Amino acid sequence: MSSLADARHREQTSPSLLSERIEQHVELSLRYDVCFVDRVFESTRDVLINAVAAPGSGRRPKVLLCVDDGLARANPHVVPAAQAYLRRFSSRCQLVSPAPLTIPGGEAAKQGFTAIEPILRAVYERGLDRHDSVIAVGGGAVLDAVGFAAAVAHRGVRLVRVPTTVLSQNDAGVGVKNAINLYGSKNFVGTFATPTAVLVDTTLLHTLAVRDQRAGMAEAVKVAAIRDAEFFLWLEAQADSLRAFEPAAVARSIRDAAHLHLAHIRQSGDPFERGSARPLDFGHWAAHKLESMTDHELRHGEAVAIGMCIDTAYAVAVGHAPQHVAQRLVRLLERLGLPTGHPALARRGEDGRLTVLDGLEEFRQHLGGELSITLLSEVGVQVQVHAIDTTVMAQICEERADGCRAR
Ligand SMILES: NC(=O)c1ccc[n+]([C@@H]2O[C@H](COP(=O)([O-])OP(=O)(O)OC[C@H]3O[C@@H](n4cnc5c(N)ncnc54)[C@H](O)[C@@H]3O)[C@@H](O)[C@H]2O)c1
Ligand SMILES: [Zn+2]
Repeated sequence: MSSLADARHREQTSPSLLSERIEQHVELSLRYDVCFVDRVFESTRDVLINAVAAPGSGRRPKVLLCVDDGLARANPHVVPAAQAYLRRFSSRCQLVSPAPLTIPGGEAAKQGFTAIEPILRAVYERGLDRHDSVIAVGGGAVLDAVGFAAAVAHRGVRLVRVPTTVLSQNDAGVGVKNAINLYGSKNFVGTFATPTAVLVDTTLLHTLAVRDQRAGMAEAVKVAAIRDAEFFLWLEAQADSLRAFEPAAVARSIRDAAHLHLAHIRQSGDPFERGSARPLDFGHWAAHKLESMTDHELRHGEAVAIGMCIDTAYAVAVGHAPQHVAQRLVRLLERLGLPTGHPALARRGEDGRLTVLDGLEEFRQHLGGELSITLLSEVGVQVQVHAIDTTVMAQICEERADGCRAR
């Protein structure tokens, strides 16, 4: 008897028995390709068009092209190249507007719902459906905003990401998350949603500001520090080449960091972060707070560099890690040209408490449930702790603020 027939039978034989539990178990398998491809918009490359329209599918899906305004200004060739590419494949896709939708670059892209309204409106007015694609080209902030809009329009249209900063190529653009900021809270609204494909083209990075070149490397250091001592050693050996932004070293650091991020998402057993442990957020409780406290004057990667220094100094202070771990981390970040402290760390609220420490409770709320902070016990080895001695942490934050003021 089917479970519904079963339930009806029970209802007839004992009508008072109305309590019932249906265990709904739905299994999902999600896949997407992350392709490392140079000169992605060159007409001989078919990776992008195959992501939009599967070869031989017979459909001619619509495509909305969204481009980071900062990228378009720094590299005036990108928009014409992307459009020419899509027009060349016009037998396989329909570009829905002659000009792309340009999105303000940087954190402004994801400030509140007003920032994503033009993207939703374009999907609506141009009549895209779930089989059509949004192509997002830009830094992590633009990818987050476009990704969120694509995930909620029609409950999800296809999204192809072309990340164009170091940070978005080695971390933000290859994963399964998107978000916008709201109520002054970083990434307060967002979804977990897999893209259709991610195309990483490191030749798009040469126009990046030096500051953004370096900021993105913090996420490579992070993932090496928590997962891969050998990669950390390689970063130490290549620090000068990376700081000089030598293409071969940069490309390899991006590929290896992206691999490690992807492996974590695939293997952790918790891709949508239902549990509290969040190793990839090493250094991020302080980073997110510092970003808000500085009105996003600090780049995400810079804030992560500072956050990792704080948490590693704390790990040493409370006996989780030997001194050399903190020394190696700080030294590597310094050699890469990243900040390891900030004056805002010494800022106090009306109650006299360091404001940055509020980031701990905000992080706990963001995780849901118990606080779980990632510390290092060795280079390449992470450990989760569920309580922080705020007296020790306050002292470390003040030291990091002082060291920075002294420089
Ligand atoms: N979704 C995730 O999993 C995830 C993970 C990490 C970080 N993030 C988010 O990513 C954002 C940071 O991303 P980011 O570091 O890429 O910085 P960003 O997106 O803020 O971009 C930095 C600047 O670079 C410009 N730009 C982009 N590409 C360029 C290019 N090739 N040449 C010249 N200029 C270019 C942008 O216009 C912007 O002004 C933060 O909002 C962070 O929260 C998301
Ligand atoms: Zn990050």
